[in-house]
Amino acid sequence: MAVLVTGGAGYIGSHTVIQLLNSGEEVIIVDDLSNSSIKVLDRIEELSCKKPKFYKVNILNEEKFEEIFKENKIESIIHFAGFKAVGESVEKPLAYYTNNLISTLIILNIMKKYQINNFVFSSSATVYGDPKSCPILENFPLSTTNPYGTTKLMIENMLKDICNADKKLNVAILRYFNPVGAHESGRIGEEPNGIPNNLMPYITKVAIGKLEILSIFGNDYPTHDGTGVRDYIHVEDLANGHLKALDKIRTNSGLVIYNLGTGKGYSVLDMVKAFSKACGKNIPYKIVKRRAGDIAMCYADSSKARKELGWEAKYDLDRMCEDSWRWQKNNPNGYEN
Ligand code: UFG
Repeated sequence: MAVLVTGGAGYIGSHTVIQLLNSGEEVIIVDDLSNSSIKVLDRIEELSCKKPKFYKVNILNEEKFEEIFKENKIESIIHFAGFKAVGESVEKPLAYYTNNLISTLIILNIMKKYQINNFVFSSSATVYGDPKSCPILENFPLSTTNPYGTTKLMIENMLKDICNADKKLNVAILRYFNPVGAHESGRIGEEPNGIPNNLMPYITKVAIGKLEILSIFGNDYPTHDGTGVRDYIHVEDLANGHLKALDKIRTNSGLVIYNLGTGKGYSVLDMVKAFSKACGKNIPYKIVKRRAGDIAMCYADSSKARKELGWEAKYDLDRMCEDSWRWQKNNPNGYEN
């Protein structure tokens, strides 16, 4: 019986696939490679000494997607695939609603048809909107500020309704904080299309000389140094959270929801400093005006995951920066070397 990983060639997906393979799971990857490289698959094989089955399929192509279920015995699904750029979602809301919602509905309907009961969903701390306080608990009020976030929240709501109606279903909703870092080998890591929107890939591209200077979006937030504070979490810790969540739902847990963060908040300037230390050079930056939609502060209370999953983030900020840098330094052109 296999675990199907949608988006398994992506950043978080590929790290999770390796951990699943290393823990003895049979893994099938489905990815349309729209935001990932085919070369990831060779690296997964190199790092795990196993070659998972791979389907280059867009989930919206329902017929082709269903073929995977006819050809394989699938026991659980981890669903990473989806559009994920906040700014782009504001420009192209219809594309985000179509892609993220319909692909998830297709999966859920196929799960019903093939009697698959275990589902792990990639949600995001973005569902907390502008939180009333930090650290953020899972029962905080939910709201969103952009279409990307709204797709995550709408899917969470769908999952709650579906689990209410079908007690055989076991669903883990994992709310990620800010994933950074890379596999310690430096062979897989984050490779966004075009100019990065997120802080860490932007910093790594400045460090490698592909971008000139980091723009820091505002230094007048009510935080310790005025710059935005986030809960950065190593992608390996995040990946491990999926294995723990899978163990949990296999005990017939019904619907469970967990924050996956470290519980520590670091500012943009803290990140610049830590990264400079890791790469041994100064990261040039300038302060510019706030980015629309940004919040001052966001960090997790992850004690629920600790208690119920036995999961805890192990890697500290220095290690996150070292691993991000090793990946960037060894792969200045990402997977296109
Ligand atoms: N920042 C900069 N300059 C940059 C990029 C970011 O100063 O070039 C700042 C932002 O203003 C923010 C911090 O760095 O204070 C982190 O920004 P990111 O874009 O890396 O991450 P966000 O917290 O804005 O968003 C991320 C994911 C979303 C997710 C959200 C959940 O990108 O998908 O976390 O909290 F929804």
